[in-house]
Amino acid sequence: TPTSSPDISKCTRGTNLNTRKPLDVDCCPPVSTNIIDYKLPPVEKMRFRPAAQLAGKEYYDKFEKAIALMKALPADDPRSFMQQANVHCAYCNLTYEQAGDPKQKLQIHNCWHFFPWHRWYLYFYERILGKLIGDPTFGLPFWNWDHPDGMVMPGPFANKDSPLYDARRNQAHLPPALLDLAYSAKSPRKQNKIVSNNLTVMYGEMVRNVKKLDDFYGAKYVTGTAPNPGPGSVERGSHIAAHGWTGEATPSGEDMGNFYSTGRDAIFYAHHTNVDRLWTIWRGLRGTKPKDYTEADWLDANYLFYDENAQLVRVTVKDTLDNEKMGYVYQEVDLPWLNNRP
Ligand code: C2O
Repeated sequence: TPTSSPDISKCTRGTNLNTRKPLDVDCCPPVSTNIIDYKLPPVEKMRFRPAAQLAGKEYYDKFEKAIALMKALPADDPRSFMQQANVHCAYCNLTYEQAGDPKQKLQIHNCWHFFPWHRWYLYFYERILGKLIGDPTFGLPFWNWDHPDGMVMPGPFANKDSPLYDARRNQAHLPPALLDLAYSAKSPRKQNKIVSNNLTVMYGEMVRNVKKLDDFYGAKYVTGTAPNPGPGSVERGSHIAAHGWTGEATPSGEDMGNFYSTGRDAIFYAHHTNVDRLWTIWRGLRGTKPKDYTEADWLDANYLFYDENAQLVRVTVKDTLDNEKMGYVYQEVDLPWLNNRP
């Protein structure tokens, strides 16, 4: 049976997955017993998600204002910046038991929940920001690290005076350092090798190494599955590399390099917006090959989020399969990795 929404009233102190010790923070959400089955609202105005390196000052003024307003919400408001960061922690750091199998903890990473769960997470995050600034067309920016122009930390995130700034990052990786999509702290790559290697990494993750659905999505995870059955190509590769590259150069890697803290860095949402965009692009590249699982074990899996009105809602995987139906589109940019067959 598909995994169902956890009982959030049974949320417990989680585990720091980098150190394997109990977390020293509580990332459980506010409890509500009023849960609505979410229906995608009719799309009136499409939200536009721009490439972070191409979005101009006007866009960043709005985005920064929205993040600042989110940071100013009361601490117990489920839409506040910290509560939103904790949503990630709660679904990743083994705080919830699985609805149908209390022996197992819920972990939406390293398995086929990775793309749909994060898509919902960003969806509500974006709607909360849009509501705070009264702009129903607001879209999150994507950190376009699969394109050479996007392979540095986008400038506004590195500006100390911006609400997008986070001091808990590797200070050696501020611009103009190039983001290495095969980053390993132990053996850093020479800067002049990074761009071409990144394009090879992307070709592998998006084209060459993804014959079967599992290769891209990650392994099946249903009620009773132990956490981490296996990640898909993007999750395992470029996605994790960018987390580790951005976070502090310490074993526990805050903020970006650790699941419990990663949502505290606003760049997380630009990073994952690119991951989400790659999902859409990959589907487009599949042609007549299957793009989705047809099993109810995937389609009917569901999660809980607070929406932009602080209403707790239950959402399903099957509603994530088409981003336009969810009301947002991506700025089109070149895909230089596509012709980068090694
Ligand atoms: Cu939920 Cu990039 O991790």
